[in-house]
Amino acid sequence: MKIYKTKDYEEMSKKAAHIIASQVILHPDCVLGLATGSTPVGTYKNLVKWYEEGDLDFSQITSCNLDEYRGLSGDNDQSYRYFMNHNLFDSVNIRKECTYVPDGLNEDSDAACREYEEIIARAGGIDLQLLGLGHNGHIGFNEPAEDFPKTTHCVDLTESTIQANKRFFENEADVPRQAYTMGIGTIMNAKKILVVVSGEDKAEILNQVINGPITPKVPASILQLHPDVTIVADEAALSKVK
Ligand code: F6R
Repeated sequence: MKIYKTKDYEEMSKKAAHIIASQVILHPDCVLGLATGSTPVGTYKNLVKWYEEGDLDFSQITSCNLDEYRGLSGDNDQSYRYFMNHNLFDSVNIRKECTYVPDGLNEDSDAACREYEEIIARAGGIDLQLLGLGHNGHIGFNEPAEDFPKTTHCVDLTESTIQANKRFFENEADVPRQAYTMGIGTIMNAKKILVVVSGEDKAEILNQVINGPITPKVPASILQLHPDVTIVADEAALSKVK
């Protein structure tokens, strides 16, 4: 594991964006695995800025996102498709038809998950996968569990996630109960992995991810076994890493 310590969130975002930008420059037709959440927002802002300045070209890039809520359409402002359009895709010259997010509207979960794995395989696999880190060590929607889920699958959201999300919806009944997510195997198959982590509230879990035992109780701990992982984290997030 390569670990870059940055002063703060801004510097973390810039460093992560530089790593993605170098991938795009060196391999203009590569497949990027992308993440939502608050941590990568600054990274995407830098990529948009450098695109606007003429330094980046996304015209041959393919992207595959980690996850999507089951039951939400891409127009719903809580969907991960909407997030990606808003934070990156609408602002750069990526071909929208080459940007993939699991199909939240496919009610046949087995088909939705199988098709997503096929999309990734047809694209030739993921060259660089960007990840955020959950407070409990989750990556994608792979929550602490008894074993590591291999491929894209459907997960039941925990009651605490449903409660936390309900503020974004008009009625509690509208809050998605399930999501489709790449499995740990899907993520581990990426050729390179880039993890962005910020803030003291992630310090304890980040130390477990880096130094703790490899266990499905801390899903991101599996990254210790990947041959090409780069963690870009700010001082606060790294404050408990010895
Ligand atoms: C996002 C995702 C999640 C987040 C994680 C961290 O697509 O799959 O695993 O990366 O929950 O979220 P933030 O960055 O909001 O702390």
